[in-house]
Amino acid sequence: MLVTLKEILAIAEEKKIAIGAFNTPNMPTLLGVIRAAEELKLPVIIMHAQVHEEMGLCKMEQITPVMKWFAERASVPVSLHLDHGTDIDYIGRGLELGFTSVMYDGSVLGEESNTENTKRVVAMAKKYGASVEAEIGSMGARDGSDIGNSDIYTKPADAVKFVNETGIDALACAFGTVHGFYKAEPKLDFDRVKEIKRLIGLPIVMHGGSGVSDPDYKKVIACGVRKINYYTYMANAGGKAISNKEYKLFHEALADAENAICENVKHAMSVFAGID
Ligand code: 13P
Repeated sequence: MLVTLKEILAIAEEKKIAIGAFNTPNMPTLLGVIRAAEELKLPVIIMHAQVHEEMGLCKMEQITPVMKWFAERASVPVSLHLDHGTDIDYIGRGLELGFTSVMYDGSVLGEESNTENTKRVVAMAKKYGASVEAEIGSMGARDGSDIGNSDIYTKPADAVKFVNETGIDALACAFGTVHGFYKAEPKLDFDRVKEIKRLIGLPIVMHGGSGVSDPDYKKVIACGVRKINYYTYMANAGGKAISNKEYKLFHEALADAENAICENVKHAMSVFAGID
C-alpha cells in the first residue's frame, strides 16, 4: 500500500530501526526491491533520482507511474520518494506525478540559497500532503574523492538552524559516507550523527548507504538514522550475477539480475530492521 514518508518514518522511529530507501530506475530493480520487501514483510521506500535521468536511465514521467502501480498494490507499506531533486520545477512535476515525498538537494549552494529553496519546496509539498527531506553539509563529489574530508560534514549548529527555518520532515546529513563505490573503507562520524539527532529530533537520512559494513549500519541506526539510501552495491550485485554467463535470451539475464538484486536488498533490509 502507498504511504507517506512521514508514516513510514514514524514506524522506523517507534521501532528504532531504519527503512531501506532504494533507487529503482528500471524494472528488474523495481521488481527485486518490491519482492524483497514483501518476502520480509517490511516497509520500504522506492526512489527515483533526478541524477539517474541525467545518466540516461528512465525519465521521471516514464518510471513514476510504474513505481506507483507497484507501491499501491504491495502487501507492505511503500512510499514513493523523489531523490536528490536539484531543480524546483522538476520537483513540482514530481509532486504532480504523485510522489509522497521529495528531497530537495541544495547542498552545493550556499546556506542562504539552500534554506530559501528548501522553504519553497516545503510550501509546494504541503499542497500535496507530501513530506520533504533536505540536506545541509555536503556528501562531496560523486567520484568519492572527498572521502574522509570532515570539513564538508554537517555541522550540528547548522543543522538546527536549517531545520528550524525550513520546517522539513527529515534531514540528510554528511558524516563520512559517499555516493557510489567506496575507494577505502568509510570511517563514519557516529558522534556527529548522535549529536545532530539529539538536537533536531527529526529522522536522519544516510546517503551513500550501500557498501557500508553491517556493524556500521547498526551503529548509525543506534545514533538516530531512520532512512538509508541504497543503490550502487545492489546494482553491482545484479551486474555481477550476469557477467560470467552467456545468455541466448535477454529476459533470462534480467531474471538472474533481478534475483541477485532481491537477495542483496533482503540482506540490507534485514540488517536495517535488526532481524539479521
Ligand atoms: P549509493 O549508490 O552509494 O548506495 O547511494 C545511494 C543514495 O544515496 C541515493 O540517494
